[in-house]
Amino acid sequence: MCSIIGYLGVSSAAPIIVKGLKRMEYRGYDSVGVATFSEHQINVRKGVGKVLEVNKTAKLDELSGTTGIGHTRWATHGMVTDTNAHPHPSSSGEVAIVHNGIIENHEELKKDLQNKGYTFKSQTDSEVIANLLQYNYDKTREIKKSITDTVSELKGSYAFVAVFQDGTLAAARLHEPLIVGISKDGYFISSDVLGFVEYTDEVIYIDNKEFVTIDNNGLKIFDFNANPVQHSITKVSKEFADAYKGEYAHYTLKEISEQPSTILNAGNNTRLEIDLAADSIKHAKNVYITGSGTSYNAALIAKFLFSKYAKIKIDPVISSEAQFSPDIFEEKSILIAVSQSGESADVLETVNIAKKTGSKIISIVNIMTSSLVHQSSVAMGLNCGPEIGVAATKSFTSQLVVIYKIVDNICNGCIGLDLTNASEAIKKIISNDSKIKEVAKRLKNVSDIYVLGRGIHYPIALEGSLKLKELTYIHAEGLPGGELKHGPLALMDSNSYVLIINPNDSTYNDTLTSAREIKARGAKIIGISDMPSDVYDYWLDIPSVSESLYPLVEIVPIQLLAYHSAVDRDFDPDYPRNLAKSVTVK
Ligand code: F6R
Repeated sequence: MCSIIGYLGVSSAAPIIVKGLKRMEYRGYDSVGVATFSEHQINVRKGVGKVLEVNKTAKLDELSGTTGIGHTRWATHGMVTDTNAHPHPSSSGEVAIVHNGIIENHEELKKDLQNKGYTFKSQTDSEVIANLLQYNYDKTREIKKSITDTVSELKGSYAFVAVFQDGTLAAARLHEPLIVGISKDGYFISSDVLGFVEYTDEVIYIDNKEFVTIDNNGLKIFDFNANPVQHSITKVSKEFADAYKGEYAHYTLKEISEQPSTILNAGNNTRLEIDLAADSIKHAKNVYITGSGTSYNAALIAKFLFSKYAKIKIDPVISSEAQFSPDIFEEKSILIAVSQSGESADVLETVNIAKKTGSKIISIVNIMTSSLVHQSSVAMGLNCGPEIGVAATKSFTSQLVVIYKIVDNICNGCIGLDLTNASEAIKKIISNDSKIKEVAKRLKNVSDIYVLGRGIHYPIALEGSLKLKELTYIHAEGLPGGELKHGPLALMDSNSYVLIINPNDSTYNDTLTSAREIKARGAKIIGISDMPSDVYDYWLDIPSVSESLYPLVEIVPIQLLAYHSAVDRDFDPDYPRNLAKSVTVK
């Protein structure tokens, strides 16, 4: 989603802000802008495009001043235009804001402010914050009072940072993250630690319904009733600073390549929590599991693992659908919420619905400071470091490992979890990727691809097709092998490409039969298997592992295939079009 950042200190603000925006660009990136305070006025520069492109033309980093704010936008209200890009100044220009979230009552507030003489330039919901702040500031000329008055009228979700014409920075938060960074040279305020982590690892996490003011006298924190609040400073873990591409061409490739080690680390930061989660699930009457996108695919795998090894039935619920069937949650159940970011609005909404039934929330999350963790009784960590590539890769395999660990705990080690073996297998796939690259080249002009798997491999087929869609923009469909004859076989002809997920386990023979049925219609078959077969036009071999661990291993060649195909097609795999890393709107 959108990223916001503010800086007040002794250094030139604009270059620091532009750098921070570049680091956070993965969250959302159709337009960008910066405003700085200098010589008693606020200057704004902004435009459509990526941070470095806009910076080249609009010279964002040449704005003068040691106080400023910045934004990368992922459009929700209003087209992608220069005018709709943030920052938005108020109509008299005494205050400018950047905003992440949605102001639900913006239309009525806008009408009201227009009637009072305030003018609007953009089609965004965010501009209303600037004019409402200005209106409230005009009444008393007190910044603190203008913030409390403004937040009492705004409905929806937001984190915003405002710069006032006296050089004060102010920021407020409702249901969107806001973090202050403190360095010896100045203060930072951002939606993401990555925005400033290269300058300081000392942070304060601002709580929901709190606001801050920062001026030359320092930082002050208040609740929405204007009562002062004290927070201690937290040191963020060094892993945030690892968010560089290093030798890799893209973050996505780096993150795929990290999986041999990230699967070994998954959950290690929250071992006790895994025990607690296992114990609660074991004694629960009803267990649900929810997530969006990739995290939902992990939830589907969890259903198989829990029923097969722990003999516990769990119901997967797609987070974006939960609000339309809230009655599925039985009273006092357990909801396992799976989310890399811990900020997906759909997941948080499902958590809310389940909480209303008195259910307990157990979460599997990467960002341990996220809203989801705050909403959970028990939170287990993926511990895989920051995932910058928009397409989830290492977080998926880490989610699976945490799920394996809970199940293994419940069934007293019945899975025989040999993660070292899985790690070695993934390492082999990554280091021998020449065949994958060759197949990627074959896909250059392909417009449709099907991914087939049976049993526990069907959710992997869904996840594989999601990766292909996101990274290559090829129309990709995940199918359970047995469903072919119920319809999709009609689509197969000599132009079709079909990825067959076929490890040597109990699904092997049936899946091979599906492959032959497709081959008979002239389609090209790409087999992902530890067994060769004449049916495959291309065989992407995977090492044999114990039956339970195949899902962890077989997704890796598909991630690499999607990555290399994207590169061959000249698409940026780190920033797929129209997508954002953390979807904080419903
Ligand atoms: C897919 C992808 C998205 C996310 C989804 C949930 O590659 O990245 O589908 O999986 O938006 O995000 P989290 O896990 O952060 O809740």
